[in-house]
Amino acid sequence: MMTRKEIDAALKKRPSKRWSGEPGLGSVYGEEEIQAALDAVKDSMNYEKGFGFTSQPIVDFENAFANYVGTKHAIAVNSCGPGIDIVMRFLKLEPGDEVIVPPCNFIAAPISVYGNGGQVVWGDVIKETLELDPADVERKITPRTRAIFPVHMNGLSAPVNELLAVAARHPECRCGAPVVICDAARACGGGYDGGKIGKAGLATIFSLHTMKNITTLGEGGMITTDSDELATYARAVRMYGGGVEAWGTSNVMTKVQAAVGIVQLAKLDGFIADRRRLAKQRDELLSGIPEIRTPVEPADCVHSYYLYTCQVIDEWAGEKREKLIEMLDTEYGFRCGRANPPVYWGRKQLADCTDCTKTPISDLLGNTIFCPPIHPAMPEDDNRYICAAIADAVEKLRD
Ligand SMILES: Cc1ncc(COP(=O)(O)O)c(C=O)c1O
Repeated sequence: MMTRKEIDAALKKRPSKRWSGEPGLGSVYGEEEIQAALDAVKDSMNYEKGFGFTSQPIVDFENAFANYVGTKHAIAVNSCGPGIDIVMRFLKLEPGDEVIVPPCNFIAAPISVYGNGGQVVWGDVIKETLELDPADVERKITPRTRAIFPVHMNGLSAPVNELLAVAARHPECRCGAPVVICDAARACGGGYDGGKIGKAGLATIFSLHTMKNITTLGEGGMITTDSDELATYARAVRMYGGGVEAWGTSNVMTKVQAAVGIVQLAKLDGFIADRRRLAKQRDELLSGIPEIRTPVEPADCVHSYYLYTCQVIDEWAGEKREKLIEMLDTEYGFRCGRANPPVYWGRKQLADCTDCTKTPISDLLGNTIFCPPIHPAMPEDDNRYICAAIADAVEKLRD
């Protein structure tokens, strides 16, 4: 908790840069990435060789990634969204087949269920963590449930073991116990159950987009799985489906991206350590403000703090939360994200799936969450300034 004196001192050191809630580059790039990209380009300036299809840096990056996560396979793709689609296509959903998805989410998972002919079923989230709630999932399982699809929200792992246990209790479903698929777009490098995120369930899909914990030149994704069948399918359909007689298009990662990915992956634990140092400092500095809840970290998780997700108290939901975000922007000079209100708030086709499956916690969180900026390269003075600004603004907003 900051004293008034500490708040005033921290506010005098206004950051030189205007931080945003989700910085445009979530990672840090150095000379090593530039050199790796140059080397990969130079290696391709050969008429016999070119940039190749599945060239060595892609194989090396996949092996390094699988080794890092602890899975048998890692399959590189051009971004997380197509990776999700590939896994969803593998399920061969039939009309009426259901997939349970949390609404506090990016649109990628639910829109993929929708696009692959499945029925989206909303599973509400746990208020403290924003993660898919196993108890609500159990309530919503029907004989048509094919998959449970949590997102590792904002860098924290979903309670995957509990979700797997729920699935295992329902072998009566049309195709047997539902599979668990995880969207780890925001959680690369996070930990769960003594290991890294990405091991549990049928498959996990990561994003290597520019804003994420590491990036392969702005776009990229990775599917991790222990399933030989899914790995064979994914490798085939990311390149037009040859060998598995399935529809596919081109969803490959380039050799230059993979070369940079190898360098970024080696730095990932360092980036996570920096995010965690700032987050823990922030937990301390923001403690004792009754109107603000800081993110929680369950004992079996190592939060990667892709985002630092705060909540205002329920009484401040809506208007007061908005006022706080606006003040932090206009008076204190940094932007906060709202990650994420229920996706059905903004997409009619998804809202149309909502009628029979109420998710009141997600609806509340949509009006209480706010994510002040965090980044591995953020100076500690900027971190203190952000906390002081939140404390100061909250004080002004009190009646
Ligand atoms: C939770 C989540 N899932 C999926 C995606 C899609 O990732 P990509 O841009 O790599 O396709 C994002 C991207 O922001 C995301 O935040």
